Amino acid sequence: MHRNEQRGNFCPYYPQPRKNKATLLKMFFSARYSWLDALYERSYRMKIGEVHLPGIDLYMVNAPEAVRRVMTSDAGRFLKSPLLGQALKPLLGESIFTTNGHQWERQRRMMDPAFAQARLNVSFPVMSSAVDDMLARLAGKPDGAEHDVEIEMTHVTADIIFRTIFSQPLESDGARRIFNAFTRFQALSPRLMLPSLFGLRWLVWPWDIWRSRRAAREIRQLLASLIRPRHTAFLEGASEQPADILQSFMEARDSDTGAHFSFEELVDQVAMLFLAGHETSASALTWACHLIAQCKELQQRMIDECQSVAGKQPLQASDVRSLELTRNVFRETLRLFPPVGFIARQLQSSCTLGRKRLPDGATVVVSPWLIHRHREYWQRPDLFDPDRFVAEDARESLRQAYLPFGMGPRVCLGAAFALQEAVLILIRLVSSYELHPVAGHTPIPVGRLTIRSANGVRLQLHRRSARP
Ligand code: HEM
Repeated sequence: MHRNEQRGNFCPYYPQPRKNKATLLKMFFSARYSWLDALYERSYRMKIGEVHLPGIDLYMVNAPEAVRRVMTSDAGRFLKSPLLGQALKPLLGESIFTTNGHQWERQRRMMDPAFAQARLNVSFPVMSSAVDDMLARLAGKPDGAEHDVEIEMTHVTADIIFRTIFSQPLESDGARRIFNAFTRFQALSPRLMLPSLFGLRWLVWPWDIWRSRRAAREIRQLLASLIRPRHTAFLEGASEQPADILQSFMEARDSDTGAHFSFEELVDQVAMLFLAGHETSASALTWACHLIAQCKELQQRMIDECQSVAGKQPLQASDVRSLELTRNVFRETLRLFPPVGFIARQLQSSCTLGRKRLPDGATVVVSPWLIHRHREYWQRPDLFDPDRFVAEDARESLRQAYLPFGMGPRVCLGAAFALQEAVLILIRLVSSYELHPVAGHTPIPVGRLTIRSANGVRLQLHRRSARP
């Protein structure tokens, strides 16, 4: 770990890229463990690169103008790649995350209202209660104890999304079973996806397929058992229904036909939301805690800002929006450790991108991980520096080369929700505890479904005597 005393910041560890491109076989075996290990030095400098795998032509697109075309101006030609969809389909069915064309447009129109800005105020008290519970869990351990914050962050974010969808906490038996089955499903996903990417589908173990489908079936059955009584009550016109996301999805109507989501569609969308709504946030928050723990002074600055905004009063949604430093800490974490490390699209008809001619059906990968650490687009790309978000000289980099939530029509539906939740969790945690790194423990980033740590993120939490 390299410290830069001048700015008081540091370079968190990440796997050093190999000097040269690996052979296909080496690439496959490295990527099986973590796709970050398949990258090489030029990956962080090139504009558009290409790899030809058996059965798949893959183009890595880093150049900002080409990224904008793929994601925004020509998005209709670059549709969601089936790669992720195939692995997630048993769980997510035809959810918004994987659909394309008219089906996606209809789903997006029906789901947008549940994430409108106004709804954030409604979800704020729900988030606050889940954070209260997180702090109560932490208080149950001795002062100065070591914690694996990945476990805590996964718990609190799963709890928040569960409460926001169903108006009930994760603690119930059914919710716990859903959560456990999700963990099993996620662990298996890369093993199912990678061989397809290399055109080696026959390498997928039938045992893994069976286990993944079984976990997906279990999750869907449990979710269906929670949705069923609410759906029945809705169809019967029950008046007393909680104002949660499930309710918003049930009320939504197709603007052309006036039809509601079917029961199956509701299960698809809820399953997707549970996955998208906690896996990504948990990953980013875990890295944020790791980064914050290295910077004692930064923790104090976060507390000072919070005190000047809210004094000793409990935090309100509007206060959270004013916590600029904490928000920049989280945004900088998303730059260095973007949970969605790559975004895959499939080209519908051949075209020229930059100076390259891409064939029909090519897979185009836009990697926030590479773009956010690109040597030409960022100054000090590997340095953790939350203040770059207010620095004049970083404006252009942020405009051109920052996309943790994607961009264009398929930009993350939950971005504002995720930011509100993250700022709240981080400031409440830092206000209650001093975060300290554990000597000798260096988290190793690995690229799987999201960017996680291979060895967890262990921190010591010391209670602050006077809580703001
Ligand atoms: C830090 C947290 C998060 C990050 C970094 C993140 C990132 C992303 C990215 C990069 C995409 C675009 C994928 C693509 O273009 O292929 C996406 C899509 C999506 N995200 Fe998030 N996300 C986060 C949190 C959330 C949360 C909390 C929710 C819901 C509560 C959510 C719901 C969705 C949905 C529904 C989509 C699909 C949108 C569509 O295809 O129309 N995300 N997210």
